[in-house]
Amino acid sequence: MKLKIAVLAGDGIGPEIMEQGVAVMSAVAQKFGHEVEYREALCGAHAIDEVGDPFPEETFQTCMEANAVLFASVGDPKFDNDPTAKVRPEQGLLAMRKRLGLFANVRPVTTFDCLVHKSPLKDELVRGADFICIRELTGGMYFGEKREGTDEAYDTNYYSRPEVERILRVAYQYARQRRKHLTVVDKANVLASSRLWRKVAQEMMVEYPDVVTDFMYVDNAAMRMIQEPRFFDVMVTENTFGDILTDEGSCITGSMGLLPSASTGEHTPVFEPIHGSWPQGKGLNIANPLAQILSVAMLYEYFGLKEEGTLIREAVNASLDQNVRTPEIQVEGGLHYGTREVGQWIVKYIEKK
Ligand code: IPM
Ligand code: MN
Repeated sequence: MKLKIAVLAGDGIGPEIMEQGVAVMSAVAQKFGHEVEYREALCGAHAIDEVGDPFPEETFQTCMEANAVLFASVGDPKFDNDPTAKVRPEQGLLAMRKRLGLFANVRPVTTFDCLVHKSPLKDELVRGADFICIRELTGGMYFGEKREGTDEAYDTNYYSRPEVERILRVAYQYARQRRKHLTVVDKANVLASSRLWRKVAQEMMVEYPDVVTDFMYVDNAAMRMIQEPRFFDVMVTENTFGDILTDEGSCITGSMGLLPSASTGEHTPVFEPIHGSWPQGKGLNIANPLAQILSVAMLYEYFGLKEEGTLIREAVNASLDQNVRTPEIQVEGGLHYGTREVGQWIVKYIEKK
């Protein structure tokens, strides 16, 4: 297969983990005879510094011309501490999501047996947890009408029926391929937008009699996720709730650096880790490249290239089993492996297979 990949490394640890993601992508392409062409483009704080726009038109065009986007992370502390900044790196990510119509963000929360002790939760609770959060990504408060005055401000949590329907369809498709259990997470006891979600879901569930649909308030879902993470198979929720719950999800897996994601919708799909740009780790060769590498696995799988994805997952599991790990998940007394060393170990594993 020929694949044109837009590479948006962004800020902070982004370029370092991206280097390893691209190296793994190339190793797999080489092995299976695929031809991958990469085109780098600016995004985030980096793009603000260079051209004054966190998602420049040229980057958008590069994304539109590509078969897929591999994205790392954006964000910079110099903007975090300045609420008056007119333009922020995160707007680049949001612009990309909106302009590419990426309404469905798929965030798998899986566990690795050898890492269950890294979760702050009890091992026996975490072991075997395996669910997917489908986060709506182009609606809700992130994109609703806003006002930012000096003494008052608001964000609007707007959703329309078609927006809710299309994300629920995606969720049902995933549920059908998995354990056939869909949990719709909302706050229908308080929010009008949530009541629309619930109404639409109740209408649609009769079309999917093979899937068990249940409804859960988001506060309860946040609790259930740490009380009994194995309860969940597929959960679907609006943008803001999904943002919050998936960070919580990373505590089940044991590290933010392990969770990949896929965003799909109207135009080019995007594959990216769920974590941010971790500026404190920038340039130190300590960031975990696995979320980026697993995002590459999701990319291959999206194009129906199952074996390619499986080989990457196998290599990742082997690296963990053999304690080739970045510091935050390394065992006591284990050797020091940096971002590069973990990435290169995985590349070698793939080449030798
Ligand atoms: C995420 C991130 C983004 C979000 C930020 C960087 C804008 O936290 O992808 O989860 O809030 O969606
Ligand atoms: Mn987030």
